[in-house]
Amino acid sequence: MLEVERNTITEFSETELTPSFRIDLREYNEKEYNKFVKLNTVSDWSQLSWSQIGKPYEVTSFAREKKEWEKENQQDLPAHTSWTMFNRSFHEWFVKDVPAEIDQKKKAFFNSLTRFKPTETKAALGDFVRIQLWNYAHRVEDGIWDPRGKRALFEGLDVQKPRILFLGAAEGYEAMQLSAMYPGGETVFVDYDPYCKDTRFAEFPESYPFLGVNQLTGGKKVYRKSDFEIHYIVDDIRNLTFGQEFDIILSVGMLEHFPDSHKAEVVEWHRKFLKPGGYIIMTTPRVQLKSKLYYEIMADVMNHTYRELMSIEQMGLYLYDNGLDILRSGYIKVHNGIVAKAK
Ligand SMILES: C[S@@+](CC[C@H](N)C(=O)[O-])C[C@H]1O[C@@H](n2cnc3c(N)ncnc32)[C@H](O)[C@@H]1O
Repeated sequence: MLEVERNTITEFSETELTPSFRIDLREYNEKEYNKFVKLNTVSDWSQLSWSQIGKPYEVTSFAREKKEWEKENQQDLPAHTSWTMFNRSFHEWFVKDVPAEIDQKKKAFFNSLTRFKPTETKAALGDFVRIQLWNYAHRVEDGIWDPRGKRALFEGLDVQKPRILFLGAAEGYEAMQLSAMYPGGETVFVDYDPYCKDTRFAEFPESYPFLGVNQLTGGKKVYRKSDFEIHYIVDDIRNLTFGQEFDIILSVGMLEHFPDSHKAEVVEWHRKFLKPGGYIIMTTPRVQLKSKLYYEIMADVMNHTYRELMSIEQMGLYLYDNGLDILRSGYIKVHNGIVAKAK
């Protein structure tokens, strides 16, 4: 992983491109904020019905790796195996030196043209398009980590030194951003793929700055991975034995991987370990043309599992129907976000 020097960020209100990702410590003014965060677009969830809003869009282009496994084994890819494939594949992209790879893929494409082999040229063009798209989505737009959108979604919670439970934690990004905003507590990550703890989280850059709050002064403070108290549990969420002991339960990109028959169970995972009055925070990818194109072009990288793209109305209705009170909801860059409480 390409690291940035710990001391390169000396000022707040800064953004900077590294070869693998963007750093974004900017605060936003009202005009900018409205460009990438739209919150509370639904005023009364009881007025929505499935017949008005329809069901989510299902992504049906799958990774070659999944298709090959299923052909060889004559059965559907089991969920756990699909996540192990996804996590390895996705992580490879986070650690790329993107400008160097754009250069390399461009050269490979032009070289392929000189050999007059259409299959090779098609593959080289595909590689070039994918790295350009990744550059735009993750590095230029910062749509995947989206720290400003996430900070907007997470702000204003009534918690002190919270215990946070992150379900399906992967590399843990969002819980670290939350912990920076509400410092001094403890965060428990849960993911049943050991690669997430040992590689995705372990290799998450120590230099990455999370903008949060200074507990002593109430002013701003930058935190890094090692500043947080994190316990990483490698296990199935269904095996957890916690009581109702967490102030915040978080998941990012979980609900949309389950068909309707399992949605109630997934919502229940979030309610089960919550203290009375605690917060549930969930995000899911938005249904929008650019997301449909992204999952089409990046199918080999991303699509090992069942996946839906949904609107905030659809996401909210799943939560409302399953007994949550929605406090804040809306769009950040590429995800829907909801802050809720159990009824
Ligand atoms: C789509 S990922 C979350 C998105 C994440 N932000 C990322 O960057 O990949 C969902 C994660 O949940 C984990 N997961 C899915 N089902 C699980 C379960 N039943 N128990 C524990 N972890 C689970 C997967 O291993 C995967 O790492």
